[in-house]
Amino acid sequence: MILKEDDKVVSPGQIEPTTSGERPTPEPQPLSQPQRIDRYVGQYAERAVGMVASEIRALFAVAARPEIVSLAGGSPYVTALPLDVIGDMIGQLVAHQGATALQYCTAQGDTALRERICDVMALEQIRAHPDEVVVTTGSQQALDLMARIFIDPGDVILVEAPSYVGALGAFSSYQADVVHVAMDDEGLIPEALEEAIRRTAATGRRAKFLYTVPNFHNPAGVTLAAGRRHRILDICHRAGLLVVEDNPYGLLGFDGEPMRALRADDAEGVVYLGTFSKTFAAGVRVGWAVAPMAIREKLILAAESAVLCQSSFSQLTVREYLNTQPWREQVKDFRELYRERRDATLSALSRMMPPGCHWTRPAGGFYVWLRLPDGVNAKTMLPRAISSRVAYVPGTGFYADGSGAQYARLCYSLPAPDRISEGIRRLASVIETEIQLRDDFGPAC
Ligand SMILES: Cc1ncc(COP(=O)(O)O)c(C=O)c1O
Repeated sequence: MILKEDDKVVSPGQIEPTTSGERPTPEPQPLSQPQRIDRYVGQYAERAVGMVASEIRALFAVAARPEIVSLAGGSPYVTALPLDVIGDMIGQLVAHQGATALQYCTAQGDTALRERICDVMALEQIRAHPDEVVVTTGSQQALDLMARIFIDPGDVILVEAPSYVGALGAFSSYQADVVHVAMDDEGLIPEALEEAIRRTAATGRRAKFLYTVPNFHNPAGVTLAAGRRHRILDICHRAGLLVVEDNPYGLLGFDGEPMRALRADDAEGVVYLGTFSKTFAAGVRVGWAVAPMAIREKLILAAESAVLCQSSFSQLTVREYLNTQPWREQVKDFRELYRERRDATLSALSRMMPPGCHWTRPAGGFYVWLRLPDGVNAKTMLPRAISSRVAYVPGTGFYADGSGAQYARLCYSLPAPDRISEGIRRLASVIETEIQLRDDFGPAC
């Protein structure tokens, strides 16, 4: 309680009328002291127990400072979009179609948008009908919905080693047993996949699906070779294993035409996930799933119970963008921009990295996967890198078991080429210091 001068008692948050009878705007009250102990700790569902903030989240808050070259986040360079034109387009959308754009819609998503999505997928030789498409809140929601409808606690999900951190988070929040399958410079290794299927069967279980990012992998930067694609599909088909093909970067290849999607060769055995986050704007949060009918029905029901329907406003924004703007040209511009940044990254790495470092050479997308010299740990090195004003993501985030400490993911999509070179110069110098420390005191654990 607060004692006022005239000794009237006023509780915090209580509004005292003025003499004129008007109610003044209340002063914001300080939050009560945070509780150190979670009083609900015994009441969470088991699946929530493993949901913890990443240990490196706090460091990333620091990494957002302008003096730091961040090679960490995987954000697209949306500043390259004609923002004023898009602003006008959205204004027109609300003025002329506001009654639809600001209203609920069906859970499967806007029909005309789903038609446009089929045009986009045709670039990867997928022939799909709009009825086969389910619009989602980014492909991240599609991952969550897939996990929700397929995963019981302890179910095996096969993923590449390393794998996309957001997928690992979605699968582990449904208590999956995530099993990594080895990759090399040509993507997922077919023999390793066969072996993982065999090992899973030997435990009396069957994997629920294989999750793969075949093009310009996040985080590994590699692409599944054309010659391996049929082989992977064949192995999965024989094992009765569903494939989840997650393809945010497929149109962002730097050489030649987009690769043929896995879904193009197996409509019944593949669930394809797409998104407009990297080819248009991550902020609209529009992605999609294309799935065989029975799975699609479950996805729609799961989406309905999660969000009722997707954002009409976002969907119509994307639809208008695809209908009225030169989106193919824009994708080409993005490709050129990211190619220049990829080149800056590779050139700086080869000029500056000390011996013992190895890295992938992506032919598209956003990421280089850097292997540090033996005995150098990317996770323990991160605070020192941030002090040297450069940030990256340690490899440990991309393995369900927390291994991968010898790796770092470098993302080149946001910084300009000269900033990338400067960031890599700083990183190389930090790694040299780590090598010195390793030689003086032994390897980091
Ligand atoms: C491989 C992969 N899948 C899915 C996503 C999620 O994308 P969004 O939810 O923005 O569509 C990302 C984002 O970086 C990604 O790299």
